[in-house]
Amino acid sequence: MTIAVSDLGGHMAGAVEGLDLGRPQDEADVRALRQALLDRLVLCIRGQALEPLPYRDAMRIFGKPMKQITPAATHPDCDEILILSSEDRDTLGDGGKLVVGAAWHTDDSYKAVPCALTMLYGVAVPSTGGDTQFVNMYAAYDDLPADTKARIAGLRVIHQYDSSRKGNKVAKRTAEDMARMPPVSHPLVRTHPETGRKALYLNPNRMELVEGLPRAESDALLDALTAHAIQPKYQYRHKWRQGDVLVWDNRCTMHKANADYPDGERRRMHRVIVQGTVPV
Ligand code: SIN
Repeated sequence: MTIAVSDLGGHMAGAVEGLDLGRPQDEADVRALRQALLDRLVLCIRGQALEPLPYRDAMRIFGKPMKQITPAATHPDCDEILILSSEDRDTLGDGGKLVVGAAWHTDDSYKAVPCALTMLYGVAVPSTGGDTQFVNMYAAYDDLPADTKARIAGLRVIHQYDSSRKGNKVAKRTAEDMARMPPVSHPLVRTHPETGRKALYLNPNRMELVEGLPRAESDALLDALTAHAIQPKYQYRHKWRQGDVLVWDNRCTMHKANADYPDGERRRMHRVIVQGTVPV
């Protein structure tokens, strides 16, 4: 089949219809899907009905699926699928409701080698609400004034799982897990390994401090860059349909979940992440 990508968000995001991810794809289609993702940053493949293992296998189109590290939320039939659900609770913490990803973030930046891409499969989507929002971090970088680009060139930021700056509750992890996740340093501006384009690399939920700056100056800079990046002109808001598989590139986007759907409605997503490289 020849992949046709329709526009979803104007400046970013596209949709593919009529593709069955449960069947093997030919090489030309794999190339087209990968290129569409590089061009559009967020790709929605509509109308899927996938069991866990075929879903995981289909995501090999885009990269190497990684094992999940949160046992309580890992799918019982597939180590590479994390379940994100309206029923999520902070089981190791206060037991309260947990909305994973409710603040702007890019996945995995608290790791030395963050995942490159994330896939989310809408297994159960609410009748209204529960959208996922994205921002285009290439565009946010491109539009910065020249003096800001010069000021931030070469700066590095400490990221950590439980950042003191985080905007939302994160799941409590065991002391063992925390010991495996020491703070890491990433560039504030990263160069995409495949497109060669520069993007702001922010994660308001995980960034702790700009290296070498006093706390107040670091906070002011990170707050200003975040406020710039999340302006509506850089955003795409995905309204879920049942069976959507959404794929996004964490190297040049941020995203956030919305838990604004009616009480009693279910939202269940199966999440896969694929291997990335050290940000440069
Ligand atoms: C995530 O942040 O990975 C999940 C986003 C969503 O549930 O919409």
